[in-house]
Amino acid sequence: MSMVRTGVAVAAMMWAGLSQAQDVIKIGVIAPLTGPQAASGQQIVAGAKLYQALNGTKVGGKTIELVIKDDTGVADITRRLAQELIVNEKVAAITGFGLTPLALAVGPVITQAKVPAVIMVAGTSMIVGTSPYFVRISFTLPQNTAPVAQWAVENNVKTAVTLVSDYGPGLDAAGAFKKRLEAGGGKVTEELKAPLADPDFAPFLQRAKDLKPDALFLFVPAPTAGALMKQVVDRGLPQSGIKVVGTGDVTDDDQLNGMGDGVLGMITSYNYSASHDSAENRKFVAEFKKANANRRPNVIGVGGYDGIHAIYAAIAKNNGNTEGPKLIEAFKGLSWTSPRGPVSIDPETRDIVQNVYVRKVERKDGELYNMEFKTYENQKDPK
Ligand code: PHB
Repeated sequence: MSMVRTGVAVAAMMWAGLSQAQDVIKIGVIAPLTGPQAASGQQIVAGAKLYQALNGTKVGGKTIELVIKDDTGVADITRRLAQELIVNEKVAAITGFGLTPLALAVGPVITQAKVPAVIMVAGTSMIVGTSPYFVRISFTLPQNTAPVAQWAVENNVKTAVTLVSDYGPGLDAAGAFKKRLEAGGGKVTEELKAPLADPDFAPFLQRAKDLKPDALFLFVPAPTAGALMKQVVDRGLPQSGIKVVGTGDVTDDDQLNGMGDGVLGMITSYNYSASHDSAENRKFVAEFKKANANRRPNVIGVGGYDGIHAIYAAIAKNNGNTEGPKLIEAFKGLSWTSPRGPVSIDPETRDIVQNVYVRKVERKDGELYNMEFKTYENQKDPK
């Protein structure tokens, strides 16, 4: 008798477990939560969690569960975590990727497993082309660089020096700046590259100062911006007659207030500013700060938020079907209103199409902000 009862109870428990498993869709979030890129990982996770907090966890009749892993910013770990999430956790998609090499490391894994990977940060142009299972909702460096190069052309910059981190996105940014400036009649007189790991910017900035160009163009990954801009300000570059410009990574919203008044007036172009004037963004910034001890969201926080939105939208479009080849199709052509403005996924390239804004650092309500003053609409990666 008791054995029968036990048997029934076990069967009921197994059934509950099985139906629960069928009702849950797991999404792997791989982010650098420790190490030099930890600020990126924290923004990714804060953005992703905020999306779920504001929009719930139910999509297409299923419950979406985020499985969050720390890759410490090391590509071999990113690859191993991707494998484990796909094989052991049976995730329907993976997302995150705080640096270009971390995204590139999972390409072969997702191609073989046919599992989509949604890039929330990494911005080197060629990444998405390395696997038919990549989708990007962040940005590309050429996309974000072209408008500030155009601003330089229109503001009488004839000579420029570029200083970038020596890896994919830095080389893309420097290349895009040079191309636009020279098409407009200017000249890049020297291309400086600082190492990605533990950079000492002092000798590069001294060299740039000695060359006396009309402008100095800067790119480093956002978590490194504070260290770079401290040196830029300490050496008096903005006051030396050289126009200091860059992509918005160097006036990162997460660190801008700590950079001080030395960065006032600096011009950058970017796809997101915490001061972007829209109802969606005002709500996003207020909720993000409320949930994160008043920390300001940056482009990466928006990436975390929009990445989860895109995954929800693709799953909903497929009525809860998460087979990889069908899921990757569902991302193509998605469009929505992000806190950054209107965005869509190019169905041909799986890369993001979005507005890029030219901005100036100004003081507003006692804080430093990147104030948008010109919009280039619906920008694709210029390739
Ligand atoms: C990248 O590694 O592609 C990357 C990281 C951080 C940024 C921009 C690009 O702010």
